[in-house]
Amino acid sequence: MYNDKVMEHFNNPRNVGEIPDADGVGETGSFKCGDTMKLYIKVKNDRIEDIKFQTFGCGAAIASSSMLTEMVKGKTVEEAAQVTNQDVADELGGLPPMKLHCSNLAADALQNAIADYKDHKIKQQSL
Ligand code: FES
Repeated sequence: MYNDKVMEHFNNPRNVGEIPDADGVGETGSFKCGDTMKLYIKVKNDRIEDIKFQTFGCGAAIASSSMLTEMVKGKTVEEAAQVTNQDVADELGGLPPMKLHCSNLAADALQNAIADYKDHKIKQQSL
């Protein structure tokens, strides 16, 4: 059902874990399956210096999250915000149509983590 690249990321997921002093944290869940995702970003000079994820999602969600973390590490926050779940699925060489929603978990969690980061930044600037 999954291609080799998806299986490789599923079996050896990159950037799994937690960043205790993260600059932004995003959580999301899927209405379709009830799976959840938490994603942490560390930002330096407006670039994503580190990124980690934790998920109770399926194999496609794990592979998508792993791929997404590799795609956005080193990008500016604004560049990272442009990455869509379709970009992640394309980079993985495609996901089965019934598993496309799983890649939303990672993409949505990233958007939420970026929003959280911006929120903290605004609050710090107003202190
Ligand atoms: Fe829930 Fe894939 S089935 S994330």
